[in-house]
Amino acid sequence: MNNKEIRETIERYNQRLEEHGESEEALGWGPKGRAKLRYEILLSRWDITSSSVLDFGCGFGDMYGYITAKGIPYVAYTGMDINSRFIDIATHKYRDAKFYNGELPERAAKAGFDFIFSSGVFNHALEDNIGFIKEKLDWFDKTCKRGFAVNFLSNRVDYQYDYTYHADPAEILQLAYQYSNNVVLRNDYMPFEFTIFVDKGAEVDEEYTVYNDYLRYV
Ligand SMILES: C[S@@+](CC[C@H](N)C(=O)[O-])C[C@H]1O[C@@H](n2cnc3c(N)ncnc32)[C@H](O)[C@@H]1O
Repeated sequence: MNNKEIRETIERYNQRLEEHGESEEALGWGPKGRAKLRYEILLSRWDITSSSVLDFGCGFGDMYGYITAKGIPYVAYTGMDINSRFIDIATHKYRDAKFYNGELPERAAKAGFDFIFSSGVFNHALEDNIGFIKEKLDWFDKTCKRGFAVNFLSNRVDYQYDYTYHADPAEILQLAYQYSNNVVLRNDYMPFEFTIFVDKGAEVDEEYTVYNDYLRYV
């Protein structure tokens, strides 16, 4: 994402915020309440109790609202977003979470997070979408200990707007394998969107060559 694209992205969301107020429409989602389904799917892979979580491109921080509404305890949540107006809203809304506009402080990035989640960040057409995705997945890999999950619009559709970016699920899966052999791609909750999960923490039983969670079946 070059500087011009960053400015345009911020401006686009600011315009939506002016038009729609604090709402899913301001985040570029439709008015159908599906943001929660996306959080549910992103959170479906791991038990994040007592974990640190980074929500990359957090918007209003509503994933944190979803986590607390689900009653998942002791989650140290951090949200970051390039849009300062979203971060202002999130900071007032969720007082016990941490939010950053733009870059994470170096200390926080170095300390890392157990999990990183990212919803809706990769959906706009850029000059080099795959370059942007690779850069961020590399950073997620470096910055998280246990796993990361990211969603995308799929290119397996009949129609695409010229301003949206639809990723090839096979290409994203291929990228994900660079970080771990323990990957899951879910395209079972919406036909035109998918989520990739990269697990970095699962331990393998050396005798059975099975991830420990599945040992009870052998
Ligand atoms: C579709 S919205 C989704 C917001 C939130 N993840 C949710 O689902 O409620 C995408 C968000 O990504 C943010 N974003 C886009 N590019 C970004 C970047 N390079 N770094 C951080 N945030 C970014 C936007 O400002 C926007 O808030």
